[in-house]
Amino acid sequence: MEYAKFIGVKESVESFAIKKTFNYECGRVTLECTALGVYFAVLNGKRVGRDYLSPGWTAYDKTLQVQTYDVTDLLVAGNNEITVFVGGGWFYRQPTYPHYSYGDKIAALAELTFENGKRIVTDETWIASESFIRSSSIYDGEIQDFTAERRPLTPIEIPYDKSVLVGQICEPVRNIERLKVKEKILTPRGEIVYDFGQNIAGVVEIKTPKGFKGKIELRFAEILDEGNFYTENLRKAKCTDVFIVKEEGVYSPEFTYHGFRYAQIIGVDLDSDSVVAVVRHTDMKRIGYVTTDNARFNRLVDNAVWGLRGNFVDIPTDCPQRDERMGWTGDVNAFCGTAAFSYDVRGILRKWLADLRNGQSETGEIPRIAPDVWGNKATSAFWADAISMIPWTLYRIYGDASFLSENYAAMKKFVAARENTMTDGLIVRGFEFGDWLAMDNEPLLVGEFRGRTDLYYIVNVFHAVTLQIVSDTAAVLGKTQESELYRRKRESLLAAIRKEYFTLSGRLCFDTVTAQVIALHFGIVEDKYRDKLAAELNANVVKRKYCVTTGFIGTPFLLFALADNGYFETAKKVLFNDKCPGWLFEVDTGATTIWERWNSALPNGKPNPDASMNSYNHYAYGSVIEFVWRRIAGIEPLSAGFATVSVKPRPCAELSEMRAEYDSVKGKIVSEYKRVGDKIIYNFEIPENTQAEIKLPNEDAVSLSSGKYSFERD
Ligand code: BGC
Repeated sequence: MEYAKFIGVKESVESFAIKKTFNYECGRVTLECTALGVYFAVLNGKRVGRDYLSPGWTAYDKTLQVQTYDVTDLLVAGNNEITVFVGGGWFYRQPTYPHYSYGDKIAALAELTFENGKRIVTDETWIASESFIRSSSIYDGEIQDFTAERRPLTPIEIPYDKSVLVGQICEPVRNIERLKVKEKILTPRGEIVYDFGQNIAGVVEIKTPKGFKGKIELRFAEILDEGNFYTENLRKAKCTDVFIVKEEGVYSPEFTYHGFRYAQIIGVDLDSDSVVAVVRHTDMKRIGYVTTDNARFNRLVDNAVWGLRGNFVDIPTDCPQRDERMGWTGDVNAFCGTAAFSYDVRGILRKWLADLRNGQSETGEIPRIAPDVWGNKATSAFWADAISMIPWTLYRIYGDASFLSENYAAMKKFVAARENTMTDGLIVRGFEFGDWLAMDNEPLLVGEFRGRTDLYYIVNVFHAVTLQIVSDTAAVLGKTQESELYRRKRESLLAAIRKEYFTLSGRLCFDTVTAQVIALHFGIVEDKYRDKLAAELNANVVKRKYCVTTGFIGTPFLLFALADNGYFETAKKVLFNDKCPGWLFEVDTGATTIWERWNSALPNGKPNPDASMNSYNHYAYGSVIEFVWRRIAGIEPLSAGFATVSVKPRPCAELSEMRAEYDSVKGKIVSEYKRVGDKIIYNFEIPENTQAEIKLPNEDAVSLSSGKYSFERD
C-alpha cells in the first residue's frame, strides 16, 4: 500500500466517513483496508465483507493488520462509490486506559486494486464527512443518529509508520449467531427488559415499527437483581447504544460489543420478535464436543464454551462486560487447555502471543495484559509464566513447534528477569497476584484477593515450571546444551524450594489446598513424600466438604493433583459438588457462563456486594473442562499433536453416558462410554496415522492403530 495515505480529518470527531467515486469497467478488484481505529467499508451501499471491529486489536505501534477483500461482485459497470466508516475502537483512549492512546487521530488507509493495474488509494481527494455514527466506544457503546446533519469535514493525512502493516493474522471477529428473546420482562422497577437466556459477547439488533421516529436507548446487563436490571458490575463502562431514527428499519451498532444476557430498551416498546441478540466474536472453528446424559453437567461444559465465545473477541480477554476486557495473561493461561480442546485457537493465540512479546520489557518482564495499554510489566507467578506455559500447551495439543520457536527467546529473557528477583537461589521480590480470588482467607482479610497461599512459594514453583518448559523447548528445537542448562537451573531451584518450604522429613510448610496441589502437580514434592502429601491434600479437601477454596493458581490443577495421586473419587466429588463454592453451584444458580468469583452470586441469589470486581463471564475457572477432556474422557496427547495418544476413560456414576469427540490435527478422536444395564460399552475412534494406547479401568493398556473400536465390560 505504497501510495495510499492514512486519512483522518482536521476536526475533532469520534467517528467519520470518507468516500470516493470511481469508474469501473471489468475485471477483478480487491480492496485492502485498515484503520487507526476500527472501520468498515461500504461499496455502492453494500457492506464489504462479514468482519466486525476490523482491523482488530494488536499493539498498533508494532503490528497493524490489513484486511483484503475481493469486491468484484459489489461493483457495477460505470460509476461506483466506496465509503469507509471509521471509529475509535481500541486505538483511541478508552475509559479503562484514559492516559493511553496509540495516537491522537483516527484514520483509514485503503487501496482498491484493479485487474488492469489501476489503483485507487486513500488521499486528501477523498470526501470526508460526519456519518450516522456520531460516537462509538468499545466500552461505552455507540450513538447512531439518522436525523442529524452530516457536516463536511477536512481530510488530512495522518502520518503513521507503514512498516507495521501485516496481513490478517487470525480469523476476524464476525457476527456468529443470532439468539431470539427467551422472555420479555417488565421488571419491578418498570424497566422493559429482554432476556436472551445466555450470557454472550455481542450486540442487539432491533427492528423499529412503522411510523416510529425518535430516540431509542439500549442498555445491557448480565444479571437481574431481585428482578431488576443490574449494571453496577460494569464499573465505568456505559455499555449503552443509542439510535435516533426517522423511519422504520433495522438497527445495530458497528464499532462496539457488550457482555450481556439482558437488554433494556428505553424509548420504544418492541415486541420480542423485533429484538435479536447477535453473538460477536472471533470466528474460530469448533473442534471439540463433550456431551453426557447429565443436563447440569452439560450446562457446565457449555458455560465454559460460552466463556470462550464471550472472551475470544480478537484477543483473549478476562471479561466482556465491564470497563476492562483486557488480554490478561493469567486468565488465558488458566483456560488455554480447555480452549484448545474446544476451538481451534491457534490463530488468535499466535496473534496474542506476538503482542505479549511486543509488550515484554527490555529486561524480560512480561506485561500483565497484552496488548499492553497499561505499561505494567512484572514477573508474577502464572500471569507472567503465560509466555512459556501457553506456547507449550499449544505445542502439545496442536503439534506445531513454531509456537515454541517464536517464543523461545522471550522465554529465556523472562527467566533472566526472574533471576533478578532472586537471592540465594530463591525468588524473594516482585509483585505477585498470588492465588487470586481463592476462598481460603476471605473471612480473615476483607479486601485481600490473593488467597492465603504464600506468594513467593507460588512464584518459585511456577519458575520451576517455566524452567522445565524452557529446557523441554530447547530440546524440541535441537538446542541440547541450552536444554541441559535450563534443566540444571530447574534442579537447583527445586533443591532450594525443598530446603526452604519443606521440613527435613518432607512435610510441606503450608496447609492450603493450593500449596499442596501445585507441589504435587508440578513435581515439587520429592517422590518419596508424594503419597503423604497427597493424603494430606485429600484430607484437606474432604474437610472442606469438597468445596473449591482455590483461586486462579490452584483451581486449574486441583482435580489433576487429586486424580493423578490416587484420589480420583475425591476429584469427582469436587467436580460434582453443588454447594458454594463449586462448579455446579454456579450452574444451579442459573449461570450460563463461568463466574469470576466462586461467590459472584451468593447462595441467596443476590450478587456479591463487591460490584467493583464481579464478572459473570470470566473463563479462568472454566479450566475444569480440560480435566474432563484429559481425565474423564481421558484423551491425552502422548506426543505433541496427538501423533500418539492415550485414551483412558474414567466412567463416573454421575454420567451414565459420556461422549467426547475431538477433531485433533491428526483427525477425529472419540472416547465414549455408555452404561447399559450392568454393562458399560466403550467406543473409541482413532484417526489415520495415529497410534493409541487405550486403557480401560483396572486393565492393562492395549496398543491400537487407527480405526473404530468397541468394548463391552461388566
Ligand atoms: C481481572 C483478572 C485478572 C486480575 C489480575 C482482574 O481485574 O479481571 O481476571 O487476572 O485482575 O489480578
